[in-house]
Amino acid sequence: MPSIAVRVKGMSIGGERDRSAQPTDIKHRIDMFKKIREQEQAIKEKMSKIKYKLVVLSGKGGVGKSFVTASLAFALASKGKKVGVLDADVHGPSIPKMMGVHGYTLMATPDGQILPATAPLGVKVVSIGLLLPDDHTPVIWRGPIKTSAIRELLAYTAWGELDYLLVDLPPGTGDEQLTVVQLIPNITGAIIVTIPSDVSRIVVLKAISFAKKLNLPIIGIIENMSYFQCPDGSKHYIFGEGVGKRIAEETNVRFLGEIPIDPLISRANDSGEPFFIKYPQSLAAKAFMEIADKIISIVEREASKPN
Ligand SMILES: Nc1ncnc2c1ncn2[C@@H]1O[C@H](COP(=O)(O)OP(=O)(O)OP(=O)(O)O)[C@@H](O)[C@H]1O
Ligand SMILES: [Mg+2]
Repeated sequence: MPSIAVRVKGMSIGGERDRSAQPTDIKHRIDMFKKIREQEQAIKEKMSKIKYKLVVLSGKGGVGKSFVTASLAFALASKGKKVGVLDADVHGPSIPKMMGVHGYTLMATPDGQILPATAPLGVKVVSIGLLLPDDHTPVIWRGPIKTSAIRELLAYTAWGELDYLLVDLPPGTGDEQLTVVQLIPNITGAIIVTIPSDVSRIVVLKAISFAKKLNLPIIGIIENMSYFQCPDGSKHYIFGEGVGKRIAEETNVRFLGEIPIDPLISRANDSGEPFFIKYPQSLAAKAFMEIADKIISIVEREASKPN
């Protein structure tokens, strides 16, 4: 049984220390390094069965990374791709609700593999949120414990063969982001999410530098909450106009598209019904379909290029 499940169940929530992560002697340290090496080997094997691994990154909080991850996963799945989503947001896991698997409890197989939850269109989902007893239980972990939790999810999840794994990252450019980027071998690239505000632009530029420093290819930028369209068809740029495109030009990165603001999005997300599934004819769902086409053509074309 992977120790993460035990750790989460019997856990140390509330500030109590997780003693398994506090080596007290040399033997313990050696065992710990051995375990980490085994896990890294397991990650390599698991990831070798996944064709394209994409991280969704922003730097900025609340710009819609999780919503974009969930909707892109459904859009890719509706195009016949086998898709998995790893929610790497330890403190604010919102993927289960946005993907309609809230309340599902992750199960482990007898040989210690985590079975993902299955969202609509067969998308497989794993999240720390599916290991917590309820919505109000906070995860109070320091950096090394978060790192080992993410490593364990990557090492033990039985994704099977997938076309796409999307990893929803929390805001920032710290522990969790580094862990994911460094642990996933041959990562295909990052999708950057912004909103059209200058405050977001400044933080997103940092996230782009972070990706470039780590040699993480950037697939492109998505601008979320771009505009509001009235029933008469008029468009209103509530936060600003063209910021995503400007970031793309400034950083020489592709611009993938704009997602409108829609009150039905936050309503669906809050109620645990996946927006993309409930409103497939909406402007936003159509925008995700177009962005999914672009992503498919970018990553699959790159992959088919001779070395
Ligand atoms: N295009 C949109 N129109 C309306 N509401 C949206 C849109 N995109 C996201 N939201 C809402 O905005 C809020 C933030 O979205 P989300 O949780 O996806 O952001 P995030 O970047 O993942 O946040 P965090 O940094 O906390 O992980 C949610 O309530 C979501 O329902
Ligand atoms: Mg999020």
